[in-house]
Amino acid sequence: MKISQRAQAISPFLAMEFGKHAAELEAAGHHVIRLNLGEPDFGAPPAVRAELQRIAADTAMPYTGALGLPALREAIAGFYQQAHGLSLNPERVVVTAGASAALLLLTAALVDPGDEVLVGDPSYPCNRQFLSGFGADVRLVPTDARSRFQLDLAAVQRHWRARTRGLMIATPSNPTGTSVPPAELAAICDWARAHGAWRIVDEIYLNLSDADADSASAGHAAPPTILAADPGACVINSFSKYFGMTGWRLGWAVVPDELVPVMERLAQNYYICASTPAQMAALACFTPDSIAVCEARKREFGERRALVLQGLADIGLHVPVPPDGAFYVYIDVSSTGLDAMQFCERALQEAHVALTPGHDFGVCSAKAHVRLSYAASKADLTEGLARLTAFLKRLRDDQR
Ligand SMILES: Cc1ncc(COP(=O)(O)O)c(C=O)c1O
Repeated sequence: MKISQRAQAISPFLAMEFGKHAAELEAAGHHVIRLNLGEPDFGAPPAVRAELQRIAADTAMPYTGALGLPALREAIAGFYQQAHGLSLNPERVVVTAGASAALLLLTAALVDPGDEVLVGDPSYPCNRQFLSGFGADVRLVPTDARSRFQLDLAAVQRHWRARTRGLMIATPSNPTGTSVPPAELAAICDWARAHGAWRIVDEIYLNLSDADADSASAGHAAPPTILAADPGACVINSFSKYFGMTGWRLGWAVVPDELVPVMERLAQNYYICASTPAQMAALACFTPDSIAVCEARKREFGERRALVLQGLADIGLHVPVPPDGAFYVYIDVSSTGLDAMQFCERALQEAHVALTPGHDFGVCSAKAHVRLSYAASKADLTEGLARLTAFLKRLRDDQR
């Protein structure tokens, strides 16, 4: 069978590949500490699970409209009011099968072959695949610790070309958990808009990030959405992370009015609609009780972050930029004499700790960095750090 060049060009998502290898070790009877995937261990808020049970017995679960249940689109718009003080027309909310489908629909809607698109390096790997799948020339913009491994305006201006048609930014970022300061992000989006380019801003971790001073004084738990500064940006979000609902495959995009019918046509054709039971149960995400559960979990992530940063410092593994959100730490492993791939392979085989090599996220700093996800329990994190301590000791002893 002839496989398309497009499919052949797609590289594996290494975080998931390491998960597969971890599963093989587990099948052989080993206890693996999985710190490779960005998957909160809490699961959906209790009210959401209860709602799923309640509706399962007697609801037919037909397709919904391609843009999602009207009540859910309204509830999501209400969440912007409650979390960010932003009034949003629910008609602009498109419910999708995870943020992944929102990325798919938006790149399908916006990219023509030959368009150049700016993406930070390191960044979420699937973005590059979506873009090149639709023929874009992905221009990876190298970043480093000075810009918190994020795009800044100066880098965007340096890499801008006549063919640049758009940019993609996730803040906080996967793999570093670091954010673009709100004013910098607004300036980047202003620049892109002034040059006629689209902006896809992935806010999947926004509600899991530390509030900046202005948001905190306005009584908000998280930094502002880019929609406050740039209402024409295309914003991605999801139930996977803040609401802990990875496997439910539910997310959303907020898009400018003119894109709504385009997204509708694409969703109708690509997958009809997001899962009906997931959409119905997700309505229970937005009650005060469920939000309180999610905010308590966010505080727990803060404690896990402190535990991991302290543990890594104790074993001499350098974190160039401490995260301010999400649940990732981007660790510089160059002091170990191993590159990131070797480090992850050996940590998995010898210490049974699953991590993700920087190779997943780009090229410029990839070989020197490993991503650790602290979406796991404190007990697993403590055990994982103890195993890494012993692993590094053996490594250093062998190198003497
Ligand atoms: C930055 C970013 N965007 C999108 C996604 C996809 O999330 P979803 O589970 O909502 O499809 C992820 C998943 O890890 C992510 O890290």
